[in-house]
Amino acid sequence: MGPSEETLVEAALRVLSTADPFEKARLGDSVATRWLDGAIAESYHPHRNLLVPDRPARLSTVRLVPPSLMPKLGKAGSLQSRVAIVHSLAHIESWAIDLSWDIIARFGKQEAMPKEFFTDFVKVAQDEGRHFTLLASRLEELGSYYGALPAHDGLWDSATATSKDLLSRLAVEHCVHEARGLDVLPTTISRFRNGGDNITADLLESVVYPEEITHCAAGVKWFKYLCQRSINPSSDKEEQETCAASCGSTSDENEVIPKFHAIVRTHFRGPLKPPFNEAARKAAGFGPEWYEPLAVKEANTQ
Ligand SMILES: [Fe+2]
Ligand SMILES: [Fe+2]
Repeated sequence: MGPSEETLVEAALRVLSTADPFEKARLGDSVATRWLDGAIAESYHPHRNLLVPDRPARLSTVRLVPPSLMPKLGKAGSLQSRVAIVHSLAHIESWAIDLSWDIIARFGKQEAMPKEFFTDFVKVAQDEGRHFTLLASRLEELGSYYGALPAHDGLWDSATATSKDLLSRLAVEHCVHEARGLDVLPTTISRFRNGGDNITADLLESVVYPEEITHCAAGVKWFKYLCQRSINPSSDKEEQETCAASCGSTSDENEVIPKFHAIVRTHFRGPLKPPFNEAARKAAGFGPEWYEPLAVKEANTQ
């Protein structure tokens, strides 16, 4: 690799330091395309140590409020409610772009992750950029714009809480928050249909929903990989280069699932909220034994 050649992690840092979410999405898309085409050769440089920002650059024009002070979104029965829901979804997607580049930049080299890890999260990042752009332009079709309403940064709070540990980042962001998105999206989609907004319903149903399943799947896959790697650290490097080789069978889940429960209980406040979308979660690679026990309040935390 030439000394001036940009690595994927360096490109990820450029995306993280771009404040405007439209530009963030555009830049992320071009980095992703170059990585997937092989035009970016290396995921990271072994001797260049780079600082990942505590918080990515963000627009200061979006008014932030604590989650508890967010105005009610409503049930998509009125235009005002539909705008509020699409605005909130666009805001989540803007954070999802940052979260994907952050996991690449923060943990890829630190945890010596295989190339497949970078590729999986580059694809997630590209999807999130597309989701943001599509939802923000839908917002304009509905007579509003991104930044017109207040928003909250709860997603980044949990990213900060998991910034020291990749296992907890994967568990909380991808297997809890993104999985929760899968639980609630079908209801959101039918509310838009009932409210007569088939365009937003179709966008959520045909683009966002199926792609979110693959994001959750990436979280589950790399959570399993890291657990397997720690259980069996002696397995040779070549085997570890692909997740398929070391991402475990059902019997391995006996060790992986208790670890998942412990991490979620430590890093996520409160029980998970049923009902769960079992079919979508199954498609993402995890069954009820992963999440059902977390829906119950532990006796000593009451
Ligand atoms: Fe998304
Ligand atoms: Fe996602």
